[in-house]
Amino acid sequence: MSSPRKIRIGLAGLGNVGAGVVKNLQKNSALLTTRTGAEIGVGKVCVRDLAKSRDVEVPAAQLTTNLQDLLTDPATDIVVELIGGTTIAYDFVADALRAGKPVVTGNKALLAERGIELVALAEKENVPLYFEAAVAGGIPIIKAVKEALVGNEIDSIYGIINGTSNYILTRMNDADLSYDAALKEAMDLGYAEADPTLDINGWDAAHKAIILAWLSYGRWPKPEDIHVEGIENIAPEDIAFADRLGYAIKLVGVVKPGTDHRIECRVNPAFLPKSHILAHVNSVYNALAVRGDVVGETLYYGSGAGQDATSSSVIADIADAAANIAHDAGFEGFLPHGEHGVSVPLSETTSSYYVRLAVDDRPGVIAEITALLATNEIGILSIVQPEPDQPKKGTATLVLTLHDTNYGTIASALEKIEALPCTQKKPVLYRIESI
Ligand code: HSE
Repeated sequence: MSSPRKIRIGLAGLGNVGAGVVKNLQKNSALLTTRTGAEIGVGKVCVRDLAKSRDVEVPAAQLTTNLQDLLTDPATDIVVELIGGTTIAYDFVADALRAGKPVVTGNKALLAERGIELVALAEKENVPLYFEAAVAGGIPIIKAVKEALVGNEIDSIYGIINGTSNYILTRMNDADLSYDAALKEAMDLGYAEADPTLDINGWDAAHKAIILAWLSYGRWPKPEDIHVEGIENIAPEDIAFADRLGYAIKLVGVVKPGTDHRIECRVNPAFLPKSHILAHVNSVYNALAVRGDVVGETLYYGSGAGQDATSSSVIADIADAAANIAHDAGFEGFLPHGEHGVSVPLSETTSSYYVRLAVDDRPGVIAEITALLATNEIGILSIVQPEPDQPKKGTATLVLTLHDTNYGTIASALEKIEALPCTQKKPVLYRIESI
């Protein structure tokens, strides 16, 4: 048997995930050699601060602060980009592709915003670009959609694809933690992005949804065209009402085909029925329900963030790239062409809804509200006026669930409800997703 080919990675970024890659490549080195026929080692590593103490040991001679050193080092076979951001990272990935070096990246913002350019470049240069770690941390969802489901039209993807926000919602529900306390825990555990804003405002999940939409339909939704709503404004009382009504609130990414080859791609907090397994995905876990026209419903579950889980996906890509090089296998897998798609506008998207109203506590108010909904042809699934734990004199809470209708119709009806003299506060609206 021939001896395994030595493959060196040039690693850009030795933060939480980068350190996990080095640690776990070492841990399972013999296993990876057996499985890939390549002896994978770490070559040059680019860091911001040479003096910083780290969890993993990399010989000082391998460290550099200059990204270009990774590309000019002839020993670099594969480039791994884990620096994040969309400007320096873009230039670096583009330079690596032009230099003929296969690239592994976990950078979802980079792909969602500039993937269209990078895919075109990768195709032009005939150099592979791998990105398993960009979506859902340790879950191999990219391989699933790109390879295992390649013979399917994708009918829908519903995903809990941000570990930090799922962790926060779980802790608010299970431990009655405040939003801030739960966010701090998620940051301390290394789940959140360096700037957690993207985790909680929905954009981290949106970047992942855009990548899944591209893989599913071969076209990139434009970030500015899609609806993205985060978890910042979810009130504890809505979490409690959801529970009482048989739902759990989750931040979901939804990808579906629309009419006329358009793509529905959105991220929003949603009520998920407890009868569906996604409603029971808690803590930092992610899960995706993918429906294909041939296979039917499939489900993928695992850690969506964190050092080990995410490094598992990065290492899977490194192993693919190394095996390709070691066996001269050339380019593998399908890569849809990069062009922009047209997004279905939010107003045309359809679901059922949960609505919470604060209204005057007097006879006839429910009749006014239901009449207005009827005029707008919105059907009521249920209506309750829960007895409050701490009654507020003169105010009644109404909780309604509504039949399927498009968002434009419900949004316009709620504007009219808000304008009624009996309505005391802006109505609260959440989608109920029937998966
Ligand atoms: N901050 C991300 C999350 C990490 O919480 O899901 C994985 O993208």
